[in-house]
Order: sequence, then structure tokens, then C-alpha cells
Amino acid sequence: MDYSIETAPIEKLQSDCLIVGVYQNQQLSPSATALNNSTQGLITKVLTRGDIAGKIAETVLINVIPDNPFERILLVGLGEQKPLTSKNFRKALYAAVNSLKKPQIKSVVCSLAECEVDSFNSQWKARQIVEIFNDAVYQFTAHKSDKETESKLEHIIISVPEQESESASMGLTQGKAIAAAINLTKHLADLPGNICTPTFLAEQALELGKKHSKVAVTILEEADMKALGMGSFLSVSRGSRQPAKLITMNYQGGDLNAKPIVLIGKGLTFDAGGISLKPGLGMDEMKYDMCGGAAVIGTLQAAADMQLPLNIIGLVPTSENMPDGDANKPGDIVTSMSGKTIEVLNTDAEGRLILCDTLTYAERYNPDVVIDMATLTGACLVALGRVPSGLLGNDEALCNDLLAASETANDSLWRLPLWEEYQELLKSNFADMANIGGKDAGTITAACFLSRFAENFRWAHLDIAGTAWRTGPTKGATGRPVPLLCQYLLNRVRVA
Ligand code: BES
Ligand code: MN
Ligand code: ZN
Repeated sequence: MDYSIETAPIEKLQSDCLIVGVYQNQQLSPSATALNNSTQGLITKVLTRGDIAGKIAETVLINVIPDNPFERILLVGLGEQKPLTSKNFRKALYAAVNSLKKPQIKSVVCSLAECEVDSFNSQWKARQIVEIFNDAVYQFTAHKSDKETESKLEHIIISVPEQESESASMGLTQGKAIAAAINLTKHLADLPGNICTPTFLAEQALELGKKHSKVAVTILEEADMKALGMGSFLSVSRGSRQPAKLITMNYQGGDLNAKPIVLIGKGLTFDAGGISLKPGLGMDEMKYDMCGGAAVIGTLQAAADMQLPLNIIGLVPTSENMPDGDANKPGDIVTSMSGKTIEVLNTDAEGRLILCDTLTYAERYNPDVVIDMATLTGACLVALGRVPSGLLGNDEALCNDLLAASETANDSLWRLPLWEEYQELLKSNFADMANIGGKDAGTITAACFLSRFAENFRWAHLDIAGTAWRTGPTKGATGRPVPLLCQYLLNRVRVA
């Protein structure tokens, strides 16, 4: 799909469909007014008939319009005539794209960037339009014999007034980079475990390195990790026939001596639970246990595409977690790279076992901040559902920056406490700590475990178990938390 900005008045444009907004009480947006005037009151006629009341996200497609440069017009309800909330703006856009998928529509002019949205400018609006069109038409067809997609959309033209063109163009560039990153993340995540193995993920990262001169990719093999003393990480992959990898991606976009932002993503290409085997129902979804890793790869691509003046390190520990004669057994004790010993009381709490050694490894980059993201705990779904990702961390400023970015990006977070009282739950009689904390507060005890390996830097952890993919009939990856991470990086550039 291609996206562009157009500043000519809409009467001068043409396409298969024009999207215009209408408010409640028959109030028209500026583009709807212009169109109404050039069509002898067509829009007022539709409104008077009562076919659309203007409530948020209502749509009516006017299908045949004689003597008009637009083959069709899509009216979209915008609610009361006042600035929209960002959520309602997004709702209206999703409703618009979804109603344009079925008809034979290739090119669209979208005038909705003209609506006022609570404290957001044209840059943000253009970016949202690109992200939402992109998200709504995404389909995973790699393994379907019939590759035809539902949507025929090809060209999206965002119309903005002349004075907004610079701001909107910036948003367009960012939106395209973020949308491509989300697509990459979703695609990697939707691939099945027999294709998307640790080796495959590593190859994808190497591809990214080939595409971008500023991204240097190195893969640590099991022998390298053994030499580093990553006994915790390697204990997980020992039960799998697929060799584990630690993918390192180094994007050097900032000053040589600027401290890097380190992003770490859990890359379990399949989590069967190991000897603490998971129940069969829904186990296929554990192919998504690499969504954190995919989001890190996607975000590095976006940062490179946007040429952000930042230094960013992406680390993706990737492995399978399988039952096997050589797999971890409950009660096994492993020694992490930090020297701390861990009693593996449940082999299904494997994410933290691969992440802890990666956190220790991150120290060598002398990071400014470290942000890890992981489909870490089913308990996060119980606590927060599929709306926000869980946020925990050891640094107030970093957590607040992430919360602010999550609001702008509409990729929500909810912070949970990391109080020291919870640390006691990880006590082991036989090692420095256990890898599980019992049945209470599972998301917090998992983060407590990680915090013990993040003592030497500012750190935040995102539990994306509920947000990285959808279950049920629309099962599929969401690409989260790429929007949030990209927004965080963009905000870092602004203040830097
Ligand atoms: N990858 C899972 C977490 C998960 C479960 C994500 C369901 C999304 C949906 C993780 O490795 C895991 O198995 N966690 C265990 C931890 C427990 C053994 C302490 C869990 O949540 O059950
Ligand atoms: Mn597990
Ligand atoms: Zn897992």
C-alpha cells in the first residue's frame, strides 16, 4: 500500500472513494461542506433522510455519484462537533477502512486529518491514519494457497491544508516506518514454530543488518553463550533440538559516545512448557512466545528507517522450550551469567531464565536505559486482560516516559508495583532464588526475578502476554508494543 500527502483542495482531487466526516446534528466537516456545495447538497440530502446520525464511527457509503471526480463518498460519523478524543478519532478511522475493504476500491482520499483531535497535531494525525489503514488491511497469507486479500486498497491519499503539509509529511514518513515495523513484527509472530525457529529469527535480523548500513547484527551461538557463562539461558535450550541464539543488533544513529538505549525481547519460538508441560488446549498460541523479540527487531528497523539520531541496541535471546530427556527438570539448579544460582521449580517459567542472562549481558553496553518486553506471564492476562501491557521498573522517570509515550501511541500500559515485599516470594531453600513465586502476583514476582539482574542500570519491563496477539476467531499478532516503543524513541529525540 502506498501513502501520500495532498494539499490541493478536495474538489481538485480524484479517487475511487473520498472519506469525509459528519458530526451529529447535521454538522459538516470542512471537506463535507465543500463536497456538499459541489454536489448540489448531496450530503445534506443523505443526512436529512436520516441514513446517518453522525454518531462516532457510523458509516454510509454513497456508491454512485454522477459527474464527480470521486467514484464514491464514504461519510463517517464523528460525534458531537468538538475536538475528538484520540480514541474516537481512531475508532472513526477503523470504521472507515473496514467499510472500504469489501468494495472494489483501490484509491482513497482521506480528509479526516482536518478534524480537531484533543491536543494532537497534523503530524500525529497523519501517522495515525497510516498506522490504522495498515493495521486494518493486514492479513497473513504466507501459507494460504489463495493469497488474495480481502482489501483491494492500494493508494491512500491524506488531504491536508497547505499550512499543515510539513507537519503531515513528517507524520507520513514516521507512519510508514512504524507501519512497516508493525507488519514485520506481526509477520514474524504469525509464522508457525516449525518455520520461525531461533535460526530463522537470527536470519531475519541478519537481513535487517544487510538492508541498513547503520545496523550491525551479530549472532551469539550456544558455544559463545557457554563461554560467557549463560547457564540459565542454555538450560532452557538444552531440551530443544533447535540451537538457541542470542541476536544482537546495534543501530548507531547517534553520537559515537552517546549511551545506548537497550531493547530486549523474549524470543521463545515455541513454549511447550518443557517438563512442566502445558495443557494441550490452545498450546498452538505458544508460537507467539517470541512476540517480544519480533517487536525488538521491528523497532530497530523503524529506528533505522526513520534515521533516528539515537544509539539503540536490540537483544533477542531466542530458543524453544521443549520436553526432552535432556531438558530442565523441576528442582534443577542452574547458574546464571551473573553468578546467581536459580532453582528451576517450574520449567514453564523459562522466559525469565533466558532474559536474566540477557540482562546481565546488557551491562557491557553501558546502557542509558534497558527496556525488556516479554510474553512473560499468564497472570498478566488475569490481572489486566488484553487492554494494557503490564509495566514494572526500577526507575520512576523511565516508567513515566513510557507511560506518556503509551498514551500518545494508543498502545496502553498499566504500571504494577515492584515493592520489595514481593521479593520474598522468590525464596529458595537450595539456591539463591527460585524461578517462580507461587500462585500470587505472578506478573510481579516474574518482574521481581528479572529485577535482580537489572540492578546496575535504569530498567523497565513490559509484560505483553495479553497484548501481543489476539485469540479466538481473529487470532493473530497485534504488533504491540512497537507503536509504544517507536513513540518513546521519537520522544527521546525531541528532548535530546
Ligand atoms: N509464555 C508463557 C506466558 C504466557 C502464558 C503468555 C499464556 C501468554 C499466555 C510463560 O513462559 C509461562 O509459561 N509462564 C508461566 C509462569 C508460571 C509457571 C509461574 C505462566 O504464566 O503460567
Ligand atoms: Mn512458559
Ligand atoms: Zn514462555
